[in-house]
Amino acid sequence: MKDRKKIFEIRHLKKYYSVSQKQWLKAVDDVSFDIYEGETLGIVGESGCGKTTCGKTCLGMIEKSGGEVLFMGQDVHSMKRREHFEFTKKVQMIFQDPYASLDPHQKVYNIIAEGIRIHKMAKGKKEEEKMVSELLEMVGLNAEHASRNVHEFSGGQRQRIGIARALSVNPEFLFCDEPISALDVSIQAQIINLLMKLQKERKLTMLFIAHDLSVVKHISDRVGVMYLGRMVELTMADQLYINPKHPYTQALLSAIPIADPDECKRKERIMLDGDVPSPINLPLGCRFASRCSKCMEICKSIEPNMIEVEQGHFVACHLYK
Ligand SMILES: Nc1ncnc2c1ncn2[C@@H]1O[C@H](COP(=O)(O)OP(=O)(O)OP(=O)(O)O)[C@@H](O)[C@H]1O
Ligand SMILES: [Mg+2]
Repeated sequence: MKDRKKIFEIRHLKKYYSVSQKQWLKAVDDVSFDIYEGETLGIVGESGCGKTTCGKTCLGMIEKSGGEVLFMGQDVHSMKRREHFEFTKKVQMIFQDPYASLDPHQKVYNIIAEGIRIHKMAKGKKEEEKMVSELLEMVGLNAEHASRNVHEFSGGQRQRIGIARALSVNPEFLFCDEPISALDVSIQAQIINLLMKLQKERKLTMLFIAHDLSVVKHISDRVGVMYLGRMVELTMADQLYINPKHPYTQALLSAIPIADPDECKRKERIMLDGDVPSPINLPLGCRFASRCSKCMEICKSIEPNMIEVEQGHFVACHLYK
């Protein structure tokens, strides 16, 4: 990985929301990682742990409170107008809920052609029409769908339209924020397979967010685990599943259902008890301490930093000092 080009470099990124005059909600609190060219980086964690905020702050869609985000060496949060315009072409997003992110009264054609027009990608009307047709076919719809309104389509089809819209400007990077969690289980795999196919064909770099470790395992090269605004573990996807280091990752993995009954018997389920602290009133020390079965004295007073415990395997836990 290390010799690969870095598309994003995220350093000590923070996003705090003000909730009262004196109180801050630390949605993202000192998170650092890189995203390498051509990889899919998955991020998992429970609801509210800061995944969306982290992704959107990386894309400059949300102001940061501290730290730095570099896109190919350029500071995302201080781009000039022209640079930002170029950035919005190179970096695209697929949203969680295609019912909310696509205007139901719009024609599919206009939704997909909008980016093509803004970025002057087509030489004329004919070429624009050809591009829209090709994009629709690429995502498993067909050219005739262009003349219909969004509300005529199912959730899975709408997400395909969302993908065609994102790819219409030929981006290099795709941020997928739980792109299947609003869809029927029966069509989730189709959308995942489509994204994987497109990623390969178009050599895209992806940031893929999910609740569920079994979804990211399938699609990611590396996986980061977030807990209450922090990244607690980051490594190659296979390593994370074979050799999870952080007690939180271990607990998350133990909760994945296993189809094989023999393996299921061997696997011990780690229950997470204790309360999740509020992101407004964070405890001293490790944020996971109150739920951790391996909590030590030091964990209650000193917050662990991310360290590289094996090559490319990062973990923030006092067990590994
Ligand atoms: N605009 C906002 N103002 C105040 N607090 C916010 C705002 N947006 C998010 N938060 C809070 O920041 C924290 C992180 O939210 P975020 O949406 O990033 O989590 P998430 O991991 O994406 O959750 P989910 O899995 O439910 O999508 C949560 O505590 C949330 O309530
Ligand atoms: Mg989210």
